[in-house]
Amino acid sequence: MMEREKVFEIRDMDLYYGSFQALKKINIDIYKNDITALIGPSGCGKSTFLRSLNRMNDLVEGCRIQGSLLFDGEDFYNKDYDVIGLRAKVGMVFQKPNPFPKSIYENLAYGPKLHGVKDKKKLDQIVERTLTEVGLWEEVKDRLSKSALGLSGGQAQRLCIARCLSVEPEVILMDEPTSALDPIATSKVEALIQELAANYTIVIVTHNMQQAGRISDRTAFFLSGEIMETGETRKIFTNPSNPKTEEYITGRFG
Ligand SMILES: Nc1ncnc2c1ncn2[C@@H]1O[C@H](COP(=O)(O)OP(=O)(O)O)[C@@H](O)[C@H]1O
Ligand SMILES: [Mg+2]
Repeated sequence: MMEREKVFEIRDMDLYYGSFQALKKINIDIYKNDITALIGPSGCGKSTFLRSLNRMNDLVEGCRIQGSLLFDGEDFYNKDYDVIGLRAKVGMVFQKPNPFPKSIYENLAYGPKLHGVKDKKKLDQIVERTLTEVGLWEEVKDRLSKSALGLSGGQAQRLCIARCLSVEPEVILMDEPTSALDPIATSKVEALIQELAANYTIVIVTHNMQQAGRISDRTAFFLSGEIMETGETRKIFTNPSNPKTEEYITGRFG
């Protein structure tokens, strides 16, 4: 069997906020073009772990990380590592859609401009390509110069995903990306996530078990800062190895 390509290889990772240890001995591989779901009760460290994958925790005072963390085979916590480049390659989408208070067009042109794209034609192409990728082009092509703050919640979240795509990432991190959306918008975003997995690697935090079961290839179950179990979603949901996993997915706690 062919060895699958690993995007992230995390070994014995510990994370501290000051003296509080939020993550303990985390070991996980994230595979290319997989949708990996991070599940577990509130406060167990899912967002903390997700943010460490593009070094967003660097912004948190007193946060310390130990262990071996590789992205595309490189130690991305090395002091010489290009963090700005990392955040373009590893984009992030948050729970609450957060478009910039700018036009729809500018939301998508902003990142590429920051990375040196100046040509108007090229920017136009990026805007059309990314909006098409998230299924928004037909809906918004006649109002590109209008404020992105006028979009519905579901449209705004798809715009935020498009904004991630505008700088050509390899990985998209999503922290409960549908929890602020209604059921119809949620199913559209879920379908989009599944389409995106053809071209991108996706890591998604969700506390919706059905969502994890529906869309992910692999699942990691976090509890009190530790990963209790990780593996194929089908296996985790039908025949978990750890009794704690079973208790959680059948809704007995959390
Ligand atoms: N910036 C921070 N400073 C101190 N503690 C934090 C910070 N962010 C999260 N924590 C703590 O780390 C633990 C894990 O939080 P979090 O990663 O947000 O969990 P989850 O996303 O699973 O709900 C919690 O105990 C939380 O209070
Ligand atoms: Mg969280």
